[in-house]
Amino acid sequence: MNTIGIGLLGAGTVGGTLIHRLVTEHAAIAAKTGLDLQIRRVAVRDPSKPRTFDIPEGLLTTEPAEMITDPEVDLVVEVMGGQDPAGDLVLQALQAGKPVVTANKELIAARGAQLIAAAEESGVALLFEAAVGGGIPIIRPLSETLAGERLTRVMGIVNGTTNYILTRMSEEGTAYADALAQAQDLGYAEPDPTADVEGADAAAKAAILASLAFGTWVGLDHVPHSGISEITAADIRYARDLGYAIKLLGIAEDTPAGVSARVHPVLLPLEHPLSAIRGATNAIFIEGPAIDTLLFAGPGAGGDPTATAVLGDVIDAAREILAGAQVAPRIRFSEAALADFGGVPTKWYVRLEVDDRPGVLAQIAAAFGEANVSIKSVWQEGTDDEATLLIVTHRAPEDAQQDALAAVKHLDCVNAVAAAIRVESEEL
Ligand SMILES: NC(=O)c1ccc[n+]([C@@H]2O[C@H](COP(=O)([O-])OP(=O)(O)OC[C@H]3O[C@@H](n4cnc5c(N)ncnc54)[C@H](OP(=O)(O)O)[C@@H]3O)[C@@H](O)[C@H]2O)c1
Repeated sequence: MNTIGIGLLGAGTVGGTLIHRLVTEHAAIAAKTGLDLQIRRVAVRDPSKPRTFDIPEGLLTTEPAEMITDPEVDLVVEVMGGQDPAGDLVLQALQAGKPVVTANKELIAARGAQLIAAAEESGVALLFEAAVGGGIPIIRPLSETLAGERLTRVMGIVNGTTNYILTRMSEEGTAYADALAQAQDLGYAEPDPTADVEGADAAAKAAILASLAFGTWVGLDHVPHSGISEITAADIRYARDLGYAIKLLGIAEDTPAGVSARVHPVLLPLEHPLSAIRGATNAIFIEGPAIDTLLFAGPGAGGDPTATAVLGDVIDAAREILAGAQVAPRIRFSEAALADFGGVPTKWYVRLEVDDRPGVLAQIAAAFGEANVSIKSVWQEGTDDEATLLIVTHRAPEDAQQDALAAVKHLDCVNAVAAAIRVESEEL
């Protein structure tokens, strides 16, 4: 039997489930893969903590460094999360010639280039299928299956919490705060939901997707992000009337000015496949000249789906250990221009509260025009003192759109810019 010793850093939601699967499904995995996967050590913070799954006797340790020094550990699985101490432990394991499997998007987005270089130097694998999209196979398709395609764009719903909240708001008219509270009750949202709802979690995933799709490392500081906390049920209704759903998307594109990655809410045409993705489900939509479009969808989080992705990487790395080969990185990164977000063409939906009197529309159109933004459509709701204008612009550079918004905000006839959300559609 081909025995591989596994050391785990962490035994929480993902690690605990992985241990359970490695123990209870050992024979089935061995029958299917020919591998005898044995857990050798499990590092946690608090060994006395009650756990959802039993951990076999004698494996627990509070010394994560044992994964690096123990010769019985052939392969390290990092499922502790965060950058510190996970980052240095992963680096040391790679430098010690041990392949590493991690589910840690925060770590890969922040230190991926360094860790991939360390893996290459040692000739071992660094695999992170679970870091984006949980149980959805997306890292391997992007870095291996699609390596021969000149991808043009990757767009994804990569945060289940926000998609759940937007789905409740859209389907039941629930207010944002109530939908967030429901997500917290169901365990979809953390007690402090900031990283999810303000887009930082999705930005880490968008950085990874952009890097793999375009073969150049896109650091987190090149991924501008905003979240959904300002989205109202009213805008979701207006958007639907105009033919759009509102989704929080990570968007990675190969533009003439370079690679661009960003995360923000968008109005997306109702007929777009991502508009149909409901609840906590994640989905990634990939475009390229030869494949046209591909959609990957499924559970973006949760112990079991994520453990399946980690287990797939473990099996992959274990096979490479047994083959005894020097492993080259799945994908090579080269220097390429990164687009400045200010120059990236965007389109906007803008909801304005205005005085309803002659000449108002002309003033607003002039403000947009002076910023070189042309208006595609205007819709008016209400009359008398208070009227609501729904404006959708044509495509123009992001900086021009921001100038237009700033100018409109200062017009006397505009009482409030009640909403401003980008539109993602094929039309110019
Ligand atoms: N949960 C998901 O659905 C999901 C989905 C995709 C990716 N991920 C990623 O998977 C990773 C793990 O997530 P999780 O939800 O399983 O986290 P979790 O439930 O919080 O578990 C973290 C585990 O790491 C251990 N740990 C943390 N810091 C440690 C330290 N300094 N020394 C030793 N052990 C330490 C904890 O020990 P104690 O048990 O003693 O506290 C715990 O067992 C994260 O990077 C996350 O982003 C999670």
